[in-house]
Amino acid sequence: MTFQENEFESQAAELRDKITTLDAELTEDFKSKFLIVPFLSRKIVSFQGNKDKPAYNWYKYKEAFSAGLVEYFLSNYEGGTQGKVLDPFAGIGTTLFAASERSIHADGIELLPIGQEIIQTRLLLQKGLSSSDTATLERWIAFQPWKEFPERVPFNIFRITKGAYSSETLDAIERYRGAMHQESEKIQAILRLALLCVLESISYTRKDGQYLRWDARSGKIRPGTKPFNKGEILSFAPAITAKLKEILSDVTSYEVPTTLFPIPQTSSDIRLFEGSCLEILPALETASYDAIMTSPPYCNRYDYTRTYALELAMLGLTQTEVSNLRQEMLSCTVENREKDLLKICPNWSPFIEAANHQRLLKRINTYLENEKAAGILNNNSIPRMVRGYFSEMACVIGECIRVLKPNARLFMVNDNVRYAGVGISVDMILSDIARTLGFEVEKILVVPGKKGNSSQQMGTYGRIPLRKCVYVWRKR
Ligand SMILES: C[S@@+](CC[C@H](N)C(=O)[O-])C[C@H]1O[C@@H](n2cnc3c(N)ncnc32)[C@H](O)[C@@H]1O
Repeated sequence: MTFQENEFESQAAELRDKITTLDAELTEDFKSKFLIVPFLSRKIVSFQGNKDKPAYNWYKYKEAFSAGLVEYFLSNYEGGTQGKVLDPFAGIGTTLFAASERSIHADGIELLPIGQEIIQTRLLLQKGLSSSDTATLERWIAFQPWKEFPERVPFNIFRITKGAYSSETLDAIERYRGAMHQESEKIQAILRLALLCVLESISYTRKDGQYLRWDARSGKIRPGTKPFNKGEILSFAPAITAKLKEILSDVTSYEVPTTLFPIPQTSSDIRLFEGSCLEILPALETASYDAIMTSPPYCNRYDYTRTYALELAMLGLTQTEVSNLRQEMLSCTVENREKDLLKICPNWSPFIEAANHQRLLKRINTYLENEKAAGILNNNSIPRMVRGYFSEMACVIGECIRVLKPNARLFMVNDNVRYAGVGISVDMILSDIARTLGFEVEKILVVPGKKGNSSQQMGTYGRIPLRKCVYVWRKR
């Protein structure tokens, strides 16, 4: 080791110690707030909990939480059973539909077109189907009209989606899209929904957090990597007809007055705002919501615009539109450039300051910058991502306080993360920022059993457990 390397390592060790000390101090500070809740299993806080829930299980949105989780919070906290709920990161609308089923009005904000499309089509389907709509869908299931349809309607292909389907599947999708255009707008929306729901299962790809993973049968094998096999790749016709049957059966059972069929008629309104919550939140009315139930992207480098690329291409987005979308998303990937938050909203200085002055975060930021300067980070944009994540989240939190009624609660699902050997207690850092901005931290509910780290991190630094929590904050 050179003198310089030695010097650097002792500085890094000192900073790590300081981070450990500050983390321990904050843990002591929040000691009475932490509570392990057995009900909050990994299943209930994730999409897994929706597996058997009609309509919620049509489209597998891996980043979703379950309707059961929303019901739990809305029914276990007073004030959560009436009025109006907001989810600024609505995803496929779990909060919105689960709240609406309890006769609570729900507003959602979602930026990603796949989430928007699922929500809008579910809303359309909740209005029910006419007998002629049902007959049309039954005809599609029985006669598979795309098979003989002469006209193909191609769709966008990105660099990262090229070769995602076998030639037979590609041909079937294009004919399906051709035949689809003969139908009414409503039927088209349902056929498109079914198509989006099966895309992954008929492709050579598997969604894998940061990117799309390719099955070796695609012929795309990265040199030096172990060939990956995703298991059965479904053929188009059985996959799409099964999905259409499932949707039709779930929807038609709305109209049957029996509790055997579990999709209730909704009696209250759902409003979806399409766009970035950073832009939309400032336009929402002050003190107008009774609760916020949400889960933002985690600070874990997961890139939704990559993992949902098949769907975004199918929805007609261009490569440039996807790149722009990536920049608009809450910063959680190494590709996110810094956002000019004060340009979005000049009132946000105190929120940004709150993030800048959070003591533990300050040390973490310095540590990551030093690691970058020493060339040890596996990606040099990690410090920018972490700083951006917390500044943007501080602005979201500040806006959430503003739009909540006094004493109303915010429930947030989020994961802690780890970079360059240092655990980042996202739960305590965000709770501390929330406290500075005017929330009382009522509880930090811990999901039992801790999650590991990325294989890369584990190899280098060993396994350190990471908390997954639901924060319960109340507007003071
Ligand atoms: C963890 S997921 C939430 C899933 C949701 N709870 C559900 O059950 O479907 C986070 C969501 O935030 C969305 N998102 C990311 N950046 C956003 C932004 N700036 N404005 C609005 N939504 C955003 C993502 O597209 C993603 O759907």
